[in-house]
Amino acid sequence: MKKVLLVLLAVVMVFALFAACAKNVVEDAIADVVEEVGNAVEEAGDAIEEAIEPDEEVMTLVMATNAEFPPYEYHEGGEIVGIDAEIAAAIAEKLGMELVIEDMAFDSIIAAVQSGKADIGLAGMTVTEDRLKSINFSDSYATGKQVIIVSEDSDIMSADDLEGKTIGVQGSTTGDLYITWDYIDDGLAEIERYNKGVDAVLALMQGKVDAVVIDNEPAKVFVSQNEGLVILETEYVIEEYAAAIAKDNEDLLEKVNAALTDLKESGKLQEIIDKYISAE
Ligand code: ARG
Repeated sequence: MKKVLLVLLAVVMVFALFAACAKNVVEDAIADVVEEVGNAVEEAGDAIEEAIEPDEEVMTLVMATNAEFPPYEYHEGGEIVGIDAEIAAAIAEKLGMELVIEDMAFDSIIAAVQSGKADIGLAGMTVTEDRLKSINFSDSYATGKQVIIVSEDSDIMSADDLEGKTIGVQGSTTGDLYITWDYIDDGLAEIERYNKGVDAVLALMQGKVDAVVIDNEPAKVFVSQNEGLVILETEYVIEEYAAAIAKDNEDLLEKVNAALTDLKESGKLQEIIDKYISAE
């Protein structure tokens, strides 16, 4: 009887041991599966996150401008639109960057580009020797010309007639520079400098100035929006518009020029210009 009991006990113990072993094996297996599933879920989560929000963020291309210069840059429906805005967007797209437009005073643009606050300045900005001392310019993407706006009944017929008159300009623009050189420095005329071209045009409407010197395309827009104004046939100065880029940013200069070449060759640049300026 004792023997039988012992054998039984032994059998029970073996079973117990076996069961314990089996339990461990099963537990381990479950733990493995749980861990694997956990890893897979985590990996899937990472993949989804990356798809939504890529690890390396898209670089921004910050454009400094003065959005008071239709059709190149102006406000429309809470947005800055125009030729320059679209050219910059097309350049940014080519560079795989995201365009951000910063609106500021015209005479702050060069400083913003120089200091790195902005990567690029696009503002119907004319290439001048003086500006080239502080920044680089890309290849030119458009030509502009300085024209004279007067009221319909004005006795001013050409630039020569500006002598003795009061001339309105947007401060720090080339219109300001040329009038200052040609007339103001020699005491031949008076000048009123405004923050916005449109303010100079309003001053002309109110008789506060006798003429406004400004770039041709904005002149056309302002004259079409206000009664009783005309643009004189004589053009004052022809100029080239280009993008301003910091002198120490040769890399961006090359990329922007390459993008501009592409946009010119593909006809995209002309398409943008034609969208805003109807051929005469
Ligand atoms: N072309 C002129 C210049 O470079 C006027 C440009 C004014 N641009 C502007 N966005 N307000 O001085």
